[in-house]
Order: sequence, then C-alpha cells, then structure tokens
Amino acid sequence: LLKSKQADYENKLILGGGSNILFTHDFEGLVIRNCILGTNIVEETSKYVTIRIGSGENWHSMVMYCVEKNWGGIENLSLIPGKVGAAPIQNIGAYGVELSEVFVQLEAVDVKTGELVVFTQTECNFGYRDSIFKNEARNMFVITSVTLKLSKNPVLNTKYGVLEQTINELGSELSVKAVSDAVIMIRQSKLPDPAEIGNAGSFFKNPVVDKIDYEGLRAEFPNIRGFYLTPNLVKIPAGLLIESCGWKGVKEGSIGVHNEQALVLVNYGNGNGQDIYNLAMKIKESVASKFGVELVPEVNVL
Ligand code: EPU
Repeated sequence: LLKSKQADYENKLILGGGSNILFTHDFEGLVIRNCILGTNIVEETSKYVTIRIGSGENWHSMVMYCVEKNWGGIENLSLIPGKVGAAPIQNIGAYGVELSEVFVQLEAVDVKTGELVVFTQTECNFGYRDSIFKNEARNMFVITSVTLKLSKNPVLNTKYGVLEQTINELGSELSVKAVSDAVIMIRQSKLPDPAEIGNAGSFFKNPVVDKIDYEGLRAEFPNIRGFYLTPNLVKIPAGLLIESCGWKGVKEGSIGVHNEQALVLVNYGNGNGQDIYNLAMKIKESVASKFGVELVPEVNVL
C-alpha cells in the first residue's frame, strides 16, 4: 500500500498511541495509525529471553506481561502511555532506565520503497529522549516490530532516589514486580492520567549544561540541583526550573501547569493545542530570562 501510493503520501503522519504529540492545527494529509499486534519469543535460555513485539501493542500492557513472567529490564518503564513502536523513537526512559538498555533491534518499513529494513541498537543512535528517528530518519520509516532482551535473573535498578524510598515504604521483598508497583505508585501520584486530564507527559526535556554554567547557576541559585552525566555535563530538572519561575499549578483558562509536576502541561477540557503551545513558549521565555537555560520541547509539536 505504501509503495503503490507513495506519491500521495508525502504529507503523512505516522501515529502510535498519540500520547506524545501536540496538535496546534488540523493535520491535512495521511495519518498512518499503527495497529500491528502480536508477540513472539525469538530466543530463550536459562538466563535471557528475547522477545519480538508488534509495534502497535500497548507499551504498558507489554510491561505487565513481562513483569508477570518475572522477566526483568523494563519494570522501571511501567505505566508509560503509548505504543511499543513509539518507544524507540524517543528512547523512552524513567526512574534510571532507558529502553536502549534492553533493545536488540527493530524492523521498519521504508515509506519510500516499501522495503522492510532492520535497525540494530547501534544504528538507532540512541540518546537521551533521542534516536535516528527524531533526526535524519524522521518520518521515513513505519516501525513494525521491536525486539528486546530481558533477563530472568535481573539486576534491579532502584538507584533513582524516590524509587528506592517508595519500595521501602511498600515493604515488599525486592523483585521485578515490587519495582513495577513502586513506579506505578510514583507515576500515579505525580503525573495526571491522560485518560482523565489531557497531557503529553513531560513537555520539555531536562536541559544538559556545561559544568561551568552549572556552577555559575548554583552560585546564584543554590536550590538548583543537577546530576552529573559526565565530569563536564550536568542534567538539570526542568520541572525545578519551571517551578522556581512560579509556574507550578498556574491555570490559564482551560489549560495550565500540573500542580504536582511543573514539567507537565495540562488541558482541563476546552483548551486547544495552540493555547498549550503558547503557554509552553511563555514558560520557555521565563526560564531563559531567569536562568539563561534553554528548554527544548520533548513533546512532538505539529
Ligand atoms: N521537580 C521540582 N518541581 C517540579 C517537578 C520536579 O522541583 O515541579 C524536581 C523533583 O523534586 C526532582 C527532580 O525535579 O528532584 C526530578 O523530578 P522527577 O523525578 O519528577 O523527574 P523529571 O526529571 O521531572 C523525568 C522524565 C519523566 C520520568 C521521570 C522519572 C524527562 C523530560 N522526563 O522527569 O518522563 O517519568 O524523569 O524518571 O526526562 C516523560 O518523558 O513524559 C516523562 C514523564
């Protein structure tokens, strides 16, 4: 289908679950909605299981399936909305784990030629909320399956401060399920459910700045705390910067800034995409003028 009608499809939008996209206007073109289902085990040993997942599967349902089997690797990524095929595009990450850590390969259809191609982990060029599919391969491929390698004896990652604390509070023995339960609890307490209040999760990426700029910021604003990614690069929580500019919980008509997480912009019902975008730009300007730090959207703005 893609091949035979390629000329008509120049103006196309490949959609997963639609949970990380902001429409500022109607889209005039072809929307390809991914509904490819199915899962199969490619390889299983006493230590690992490699599974190939249809890209239209719901991400969280997939995580729950693996958690039930006690296969470790994606439990920290519980309750992320959206579909499996979108996960590698932005290299989804949460609570100390990124998809790239368990990723083996993906299959995709080249929209121009109709050919099925394979992208290995290296070829995906993963970064923080980033991959080749957000850059030079943007909109060029429809991802059809994603293959992950999960562990039957996982080393659980509980280093993310609030996660360790929540697992302790829950009091259950450390397990794949316990980590997943804790992540679900944290997300439910901080992030609005998109089925109830419109939102696309974190609106901006957490900015990464040079050590020198970070030290300058800290001298002026001692409450700003970042995390060293390398000896010279520091990631600063955008939510903290936005909250420090007074935006947390602010409402503007039908839209606003979430009161538990300033990085999340919400639509209480009657707002539209352009309103959300305008609010985001005001936030971006105020953070730039107070801290000299540039926020870049994490959400796909159309
Ligand atoms: N913080 C504030 N005020 C706020 C929000 C956050 O001070 O309003 C502070 C927190 O106190 C904490 C730090 O910022 O010290 C980090 O906050 P949090 O743990 O909530 O994580 P985040 O950096 O704001 C990122 C991801 C989330 C992911 C969480 C957990 C990005 C852009 N966002 O948020 O991902 O769930 O970490 O790992 O990296 C998403 O991508 O849509 C998303 C929700």
